[in-house]
Amino acid sequence: MKRRIPYFSFTKINSDVEDKFEKTFHSVMDSKWYILGKQLEKFENSFAQYLQVEHAIGVGSGLDALNISLTALELKQDDEVILPSYTFIATLLSVIHSGAKPVLVDVHPETLVLDPESILPYLNSKTKVIIPVHMCGFPCDMIEFNYLASQRNIYILEDNAQAIGAEIDNRKTGSFGYINATSFYPTKTLGAIGDGGIITTNDKQIAEKCRSLRNYGLVNRKHHKYIGYNWNGLGNIKMIENLLSIGLTTICGVLSMYWFYRSMSN
Ligand SMILES: Cc1ncc(COP(=O)(O)O)c(C=O)c1O
Repeated sequence: MKRRIPYFSFTKINSDVEDKFEKTFHSVMDSKWYILGKQLEKFENSFAQYLQVEHAIGVGSGLDALNISLTALELKQDDEVILPSYTFIATLLSVIHSGAKPVLVDVHPETLVLDPESILPYLNSKTKVIIPVHMCGFPCDMIEFNYLASQRNIYILEDNAQAIGAEIDNRKTGSFGYINATSFYPTKTLGAIGDGGIITTNDKQIAEKCRSLRNYGLVNRKHHKYIGYNWNGLGNIKMIENLLSIGLTTICGVLSMYWFYRSMSN
């Protein structure tokens, strides 16, 4: 008997969390706090705990997460950023927006991700950042990238948009880089009902800077320390708090899907 299996379906995921969505939606409406409020803080803490990192900063999208991360690193025009030639365009756009020079390097023909050895010829005194991008849940060799970076004073910005839930030696991707960017685009392994993204890091100072940058450069009610942005939003409608908390409730289902696909491909 022939059975049609849909390429992708939100039906099951959504029906599993509909009740939770409604409850959270009403609690956010009742709280009258729609941007950067308690629900977001709760989600940031849970996500940081899940990845075993110190800080998580919710933002409007994966591209926002990359943009803020590179802005926080204060790159100059002559600085170079190494990234894979095979990735979603957002990775490249973030480098262009930063004003630094993108240096595109071919991925490994078998793994389809950036290989630490292949970037060696491109490293020089101008290299400030390397962006390893995990593709379709397959992680880059973060141990080796971190080693390379530590020898040369280079920052690693991990693009974890396609790999929430992936692990290297029992450690979650999105926790290896000096700073890490993730997307909650609806079809990602952890999808929100709308656009969403998050930055993770173990560096307190850079975390505080990213928090400020996403919110007009504010560090307190009266003081703007940085030339900031309004990057705290989910798309143009800003951070609708409940959308990310919905993400949390789907995490188990989504992760089991991820493991299912992984075991199928083994
Ligand atoms: C590798 C990669 N980086 C960045 C992004 C950007 O994420 P977003 O669509 O949330 O801006 C995506 C996905 O869209 C992606 O696949």
